[in-house]
Amino acid sequence: MKRILIAVSAFIGIVGLNVAFAADEKMRHQNHNHNMSMMDTRTSLDLSPEMKQHQLLNMREHLDAIKSIVGLMSENKFEDASKVAHSKLGLTPEMQQMCSMFNDEKFMALGFAFHKSGDDLGDALKTRDVATSLRALNKTMEYCVSCHATYRQ
Ligand code: HEC
Repeated sequence: MKRILIAVSAFIGIVGLNVAFAADEKMRHQNHNHNMSMMDTRTSLDLSPEMKQHQLLNMREHLDAIKSIVGLMSENKFEDASKVAHSKLGLTPEMQQMCSMFNDEKFMALGFAFHKSGDDLGDALKTRDVATSLRALNKTMEYCVSCHATYRQ
């Protein structure tokens, strides 16, 4: 009887250990997956600290421009919205210079195409047509989304 009890408890012990081990493995696996999804796989632009600050400042201005354009459209101020699009998102000499300072050809091409779409948005807003303007705004914002998905500082 005692032997059977020892055998049974040893069996339970082994099963218990296996369960604990499996749970540990699963945790490790989940952590591994977690780490994979936390990894930033976007292309780095290798910017200097000054360039980083300059770029982020520019970006915050881009976001502010989008906000202003939406606000002005809601107030029927299409002329003003058009001016914001051309001056803040369009291919101004300042933006042209900023976009030429990167070492990544594809990034620069994306930057130029983005600013060109800013000028197209400015033209679309001049029509005062909401659907035409929103289509152009959507196009411009597609560049924000696709560049952010591809590149990081
Ligand atoms: C050609 C590429 C490109 C385009 C187009 C672009 N961005 Fe960015 N943006 C970046 C990069 C690179 C960063 C840095 C992201 C990082 O390192 O995680 C950034 C960062 C930002 C940030 C963070 C700023 C901060 O202070 O942390 C904002 C906000 C932003 N972008 C807004 C916009 C908006 C709005 C648009 C479109 C109207 C836009 N960007 C278009 C490349 C781009």
